[in-house]
Amino acid sequence: MFDFIHITDLHILPPGETNYGLDPALRLRHAVESIAARHGPGSAAPAEFVIITGDLTHHGQPAAYATLREILEGLPMPFHLMLGNHDERAHFRAAFPEAPVDDAGFIQQVIETEMGRFILLDTKTEGTHAGLLCEARLAWLTARLEESEAPVFLFLHHPPMPLGITRMDRIPLLNSAALADALAPHRAKIRHMFHGHLHRPLGGSWLGIPFTSLRGTSHQVALDLSERDSTPGSHEPPAYALVRVSEDSVVVHAHDFLDQTGNFDL
Ligand SMILES: [Fe+2]
Repeated sequence: MFDFIHITDLHILPPGETNYGLDPALRLRHAVESIAARHGPGSAAPAEFVIITGDLTHHGQPAAYATLREILEGLPMPFHLMLGNHDERAHFRAAFPEAPVDDAGFIQQVIETEMGRFILLDTKTEGTHAGLLCEARLAWLTARLEESEAPVFLFLHHPPMPLGITRMDRIPLLNSAALADALAPHRAKIRHMFHGHLHRPLGGSWLGIPFTSLRGTSHQVALDLSERDSTPGSHEPPAYALVRVSEDSVVVHAHDFLDQTGNFDL
């Protein structure tokens, strides 16, 4: 058994800039402080690492990635970064030159854990807020799935299934059928899929694969399933997730890290 942290949709801006009335960098600093206090070494539930499923920045500027790097250095455990539709791959790679990339330069990697392989995918594609796994990225995924029988945990920014929020469903993973085909022969060993993009706490299953996502550390998307051309926003509380993985279960605890109501004995 081990614990890790899932964070998504940071939308970091250069220092001093705000988005929808909030400071995404300050929000992330609070998340990092909370994670360090609650899940650092020696805590009751120390986390092995943090995985951030994209939209690291809002506009992909170098100054935003520099700010992100400075904030994440406050984490007392390793962190693994992924790209979302708001990111810029070249600027990310310049700011995080140590980040693993595949042979084609995409931000994809495998993290080997005691519970199986964590496969992190890069669904960023140019010119659209939708996502795509091109032939090269799908080939890389297929090779990773074929080379081991270990259990698999998948991570990607764009969900491959519609989730009911009209505007977000227009910018999903565009070739979800190709992903489904790549996963089909390996379905039995795929234990869970984690995604971002929605800025909402949600979970379910897709083709029998359990999935979860959560609110961003920045602004949120409102639960509005009406037909509309704009994305419904909200200022619901930001969260990160503590994920506990064991031989026979995956448990995802969302934590509203800005909540100030305090705890008490029931
Ligand atoms: Fe986002």
